[in-house]
Amino acid sequence: MFTASDNPVIIEPFKIKSVEPLPMTSREEREQYLQEAHYNPFLLHSSQVTFDFLTDSGTSAMSSAQWAAMMDADESYAGAKSWEHLYRVVNELTGYPHILPTHQGRAAERILYGVVGGKGKVFLSNTHFDTTRANIEFTGATAIDIPIKEGLDPFLIHPFKGNMDTEALEKNIQQYGASAIGAVILTVTNNSGGGQPVSMANAKEVSRICKKHNVLFVLDACRIAENAYFIRHREEGYADQSDFDIAREMFRLADAAIMSAKKDALVNMGGFLAMNDEKLAQQCSNLLIITEGFTTYGGLSGRDMEAIAVGLKEVFVHGYLTYRIRSTAYLGEKLIAKGIPVMQPIGGHAVYIDARTFYPNIPVDQYPGQALVCELYKVGGIRAVEVGSLMFGKYDEKGKLIPSAMDLVRLAIPRRVYTQSHIDYVIALFDELIREKEKVKGYKIVFETPLLRHFTCKLKPVI
Ligand code: F0G
Repeated sequence: MFTASDNPVIIEPFKIKSVEPLPMTSREEREQYLQEAHYNPFLLHSSQVTFDFLTDSGTSAMSSAQWAAMMDADESYAGAKSWEHLYRVVNELTGYPHILPTHQGRAAERILYGVVGGKGKVFLSNTHFDTTRANIEFTGATAIDIPIKEGLDPFLIHPFKGNMDTEALEKNIQQYGASAIGAVILTVTNNSGGGQPVSMANAKEVSRICKKHNVLFVLDACRIAENAYFIRHREEGYADQSDFDIAREMFRLADAAIMSAKKDALVNMGGFLAMNDEKLAQQCSNLLIITEGFTTYGGLSGRDMEAIAVGLKEVFVHGYLTYRIRSTAYLGEKLIAKGIPVMQPIGGHAVYIDARTFYPNIPVDQYPGQALVCELYKVGGIRAVEVGSLMFGKYDEKGKLIPSAMDLVRLAIPRRVYTQSHIDYVIALFDELIREKEKVKGYKIVFETPLLRHFTCKLKPVI
């Protein structure tokens, strides 16, 4: 019998009890669907999509244990046993005494940053995720990204490209003054930076600097289990620790945490905000009650809280994270072997392709990332998301596009949803993409909204 380490096949550490048909379409149908969706995959119906890599958020397959717990949930308004279950699990993991359930991550962001934000405040992060930045800026505060410089080079190999630049942290705190800092936010793994991990040493240094200046240190912990796996494998001194203990240690370095449970808690909806400080918790509770719900359910039903409580344990069960991180890396490595320009090293939840390098013949103002997203759908019903000039581009006074730093395409992998043969099938589809590479044309926008245009914009191929 093989041991896990010498068998090259990734074993999914589960067997399948409930299945959902995979939508199958022909190339002709997909060309038509894409035209009807104005070349914007956000406007496709999921029934037209075979492999949905739009996001890893809220798209996990739940376990039989989660479904069983949901059946047994307590839907009481106040003091439900399902809330007590969730409280126990989150408290054991994070160590924070004050825990507020929310319907998803951005609700926790709105509450916390609504309290500690406001005009004149500055937030510092390895990279603010877009909802994080939006919630901070909505209060009138400023959000500044301070990733390490290695994190900005898509092909440079570094074990912890998600790290924060701690010299820049110290400099910014001194420049703005500690009392102007709303919070320092460490996002693990760094989603906007390519799903790259943050080391424990970096989290310790951030913690030290925040303590020295008496500044609030918040962890955005939605992928902290995946981050812990990388620490165990890449950081000296952690090889013999469990992923759970590594995550526990990291939580204890911060003063508060926000978690979208839609990622590493393996559920379809939910989140929480947790912290040490009682006065801050009181202020946040007031906002929670006004906008989300009473403190023992937030925006969640009892069954949602049960599913999160069970999922937060399951994510650390031996075998799961190995399967998870290996299968994301597997897709990335096979694409690299085909010569596809993939961001490296491969992050935890997604593979990012550099579309500008893949389609050098498509000018940046014709959105090479969107061209790749459209081709992925046409060749095999794959839905991915452009993370580039369509998502982040702005216009100058003359209406000329100011492109984003990179034009990437993200293939985010839902948890426990696709098998290795699905992924092998996807990898094989790239041969067709490579064959058709020279023929692919760019796109122009024919309709857009002033904010977050990528969700609803309409495009046309450039002829
Ligand atoms: N923080 C990070 C790092 C995230 O990746 C997300 C969501 C949030 C906060 C907000 O959580 O969606 O529950 O409100 N990321 C999703 C994605 C949307 O596709 O990467 P939420």
